[in-house]
Amino acid sequence: MSDTATPNVIRRADYAPPAFLIDTVDLEFDLVPDRTIVKNTMRVRRNPAAAHTTASTADLELMGEQLEFVSAAIDGKPYARVRAHEHGLTLENVPDAFELVLTGACAPADNTTLSGLYVSSGNFFTQCEAEGFRRITWFLDRPDVMATYTVTLRADKIAYPVLLSNGNLIAEGTLPDGRHYAKWEDPFRKPSYLFALVAGKLVALEERIESGSGKEKLLQVWVEPQDLDKTHHAMDSLIHSIRWDEKRFGLELDLDRFMIVAVSDFNMGAMENKGLNIFNTKYVLANPETATDTDFANIEAVVGHEYFHNWTGNRVTCRDWFQLSLKEGLTVFRDQEFSAAMSGGDENDAARATKRIEDVRVLRQVQFAEDAGPMAHPVRPESYVEINNFYTMTVYEKGSEVVRMYQTLFGRDGFRKGMDLYFQRHDGQAVACDDFRAAMADANGRDLAQYERWYSQAGTPRVTVTTHYDEAHRRYSVTLAQDYANSSPAARETQKGPLLIPFAIGLIGPDGADLPLRLEDESAVSGTTRVLEFTEAQQTFTFVDVPVKPLPSLLRNFSAPVIVEYDYSSTELAFLLAHDSDPFNRWEAGQRLATRELLALAARAARSEPLEVDDALVDAFRRVLNDETLSPSFRELALMLPSETYLAEQMAESNPAAVHAARLFVRKRLGAALKTDWLASYDKHLTPGAYEPTPEAASRRALKNLALSYLAELDEPADAVRLATAQYDAANNMTDRAAALQALLNAAAGTGRDVARHALEDFYARFEREPLVIDKWFALQAAQRGSAQHPVLETVRALMKHPAFNLKNPNRARSLIFSFCAANPAQFHAADGSGYAFWAEQVLALDAFNPQVAARLARNLELWRRFTPALREPMRAALEKVAAEAKSRDVREIVEKALA
Ligand code: TRP
Ligand code: ZN
Repeated sequence: MSDTATPNVIRRADYAPPAFLIDTVDLEFDLVPDRTIVKNTMRVRRNPAAAHTTASTADLELMGEQLEFVSAAIDGKPYARVRAHEHGLTLENVPDAFELVLTGACAPADNTTLSGLYVSSGNFFTQCEAEGFRRITWFLDRPDVMATYTVTLRADKIAYPVLLSNGNLIAEGTLPDGRHYAKWEDPFRKPSYLFALVAGKLVALEERIESGSGKEKLLQVWVEPQDLDKTHHAMDSLIHSIRWDEKRFGLELDLDRFMIVAVSDFNMGAMENKGLNIFNTKYVLANPETATDTDFANIEAVVGHEYFHNWTGNRVTCRDWFQLSLKEGLTVFRDQEFSAAMSGGDENDAARATKRIEDVRVLRQVQFAEDAGPMAHPVRPESYVEINNFYTMTVYEKGSEVVRMYQTLFGRDGFRKGMDLYFQRHDGQAVACDDFRAAMADANGRDLAQYERWYSQAGTPRVTVTTHYDEAHRRYSVTLAQDYANSSPAARETQKGPLLIPFAIGLIGPDGADLPLRLEDESAVSGTTRVLEFTEAQQTFTFVDVPVKPLPSLLRNFSAPVIVEYDYSSTELAFLLAHDSDPFNRWEAGQRLATRELLALAARAARSEPLEVDDALVDAFRRVLNDETLSPSFRELALMLPSETYLAEQMAESNPAAVHAARLFVRKRLGAALKTDWLASYDKHLTPGAYEPTPEAASRRALKNLALSYLAELDEPADAVRLATAQYDAANNMTDRAAALQALLNAAAGTGRDVARHALEDFYARFEREPLVIDKWFALQAAQRGSAQHPVLETVRALMKHPAFNLKNPNRARSLIFSFCAANPAQFHAADGSGYAFWAEQVLALDAFNPQVAARLARNLELWRRFTPALREPMRAALEKVAAEAKSRDVREIVEKALA
């Protein structure tokens, strides 16, 4: 059967333990780019736990893909009853326990999928999650088959001086013909998706540290020689991660050596292979000249994420891929908490809020959208066609919220007890999301049966709030109702009943101060924020001794991944923006205020009616900008308008052109009305002297560069052009240089003048040898503002012919093509459908050699049914073209679900 026939659906309900187990794996590689020989020696035995659940068969079925079969032997004798086929090997009538030696070959130099063993810049790398190991050798390539591995690598010594694999180096030496070898042993049992090898011309930054219990650890960050000066931040981030996991969770590094390797051809962010994390260069390499503050923060987060997987993912792994959020949701939660701590906010709510706001913005813009479309799925999906398509915002980000809610319910100490019990019970095992929930429940003496719905129900819950103040009895009641009003059909099928929603609430008095809280069943007043446990379809909570009619502050710190509907007046929102003690909700009030205004304007723009901005919004923004009690980074977040993508999703029918017009109009108005404030703020937040990537300095740069971007919106942007040009020329760091270039590009779009050309050319010449910076150069141009006279698509097509463009490199493809399709909605959704035709072309081009990356791009049109009718038809036509021509199961799953 070919991939284009009805694809096979894999279902969670069909899980069965494997018929065989593999206890040890000994791999020998003769690394040659065109044909690498892999000799795989395994101890195999029948799985005692499978006897009753699987039809007893004497055959062993191993998975394998794109492999050339060479030979098989059982217990030292050649074995003839072997059949090699498209999906693997069938070994007929095998004994109950035996040693199996399989020899095969693969072709790393021709492997453009970046899954399995491949070559990048002349070096060898592997990527095995989720199902890449079967492209290296035949195996029971599923996460509940755990084995210990020894690995011998043999290769030419000049071309591949460095030979790395998981665990500890136990032998190395030279071989005849200019070759050498290294032998590695990983003492921990692991699933095959955590296997890794690296071979090539690499150099390392090294540190030796003592872990919590006093053991010496060798830490290495391996890169190509020209990048050694960009490894310090990754190393610092690794050390901070190790310390934080010891302190917060009592979890220590369990290997003598921990390695990070950077590779420039990589499908995703990074991979947590045991002891040998492999990273996209984007999440390793940084120095002030090449990396922005955001890059520095992302590196810290991703280094933390992969390191934290060593316990949450590797020591305790997933039973099957439906449980992916067991490791990903939990590890994202851990990296978010780590980043919050590093930004100075382990105990400080205001500093923590900045990180929280950033995370929630992404969740709402991207995960809520996923939930509203044809790919909607629960945190623990029920079925998939291609597992690579389920490394999603829902599994990662909503999964993280589902973990965070345990901490919201039980506190940090209760959460820690649950974690401790989880490791006590499951260290060394492959388990399920239910096991994590059970550990949290048992450690905290709670029945969490209802909580299971957070794992099994897709769609974004909506909580509608109504309030009533009974002045005579000084009672304030809050009625919460939950439903899934915004769900897609895909989500609706999964919904069974109400969720346990931890709903944090505060009540604010007319003076702006929090009121002390007492619910009617409580004996005394305590605190000013209460986490309501909201479990029914509708429920009323009554606060007593409430002296005045309060203003409710709802879902503080975004205590659950839900949509809150409450009928705030604009005056009330402005009041919350000025006074709420919960920094998240202060930001939220400003966003609601702006969203309301922007959506009203978008509706007018759609009808070609004249636009006008409410002065109340301008005044509220001015107060925030000039409020010195707020950190610059908080002000930057509060003054940034919701994105065009988010706004379009809030419309009954998405109209990107109308949203763009409305948002630009408001930005111009804010730019002009607050011009002197922006100019003053710009000067006040300069960061003279040497670059420091500290949260404080980054916070100042963020607000300063936001000021610059508003000034660039003016119809006569002379101030912005002057400031941006000077900033560009004087910059000693990439944050300022890139922000200046972006301001110039936007100023140019407004005036039609070519004020950005010199900077663009200079930028390219200056960073020609820094691929990650050239990615920014492509991305800035792809996402730049365009107009009907100057469509950005023309620029993008011209840039595709640039000698530095290369579709095969995922970072480069993302920088130009994904940036245009996803980060430039007004241009991508051009009325003539040209953006969609381009999208179809590029999805198909990518599909021919890298289905994983193609499928990511394919998702860009999945919300087509929610757009205005005029766009829907060209979108459908583009989807149908891809559906007719795409070859991979990855892309087909996406477009077929979109069209269904
Ligand atoms: N497990 C990795 C992480 O979240 C991500 C990952 C999954 C990945 N599949 C991949 C990375 C394929 C690269 C390629 O940390
Ligand atoms: Zn992960």
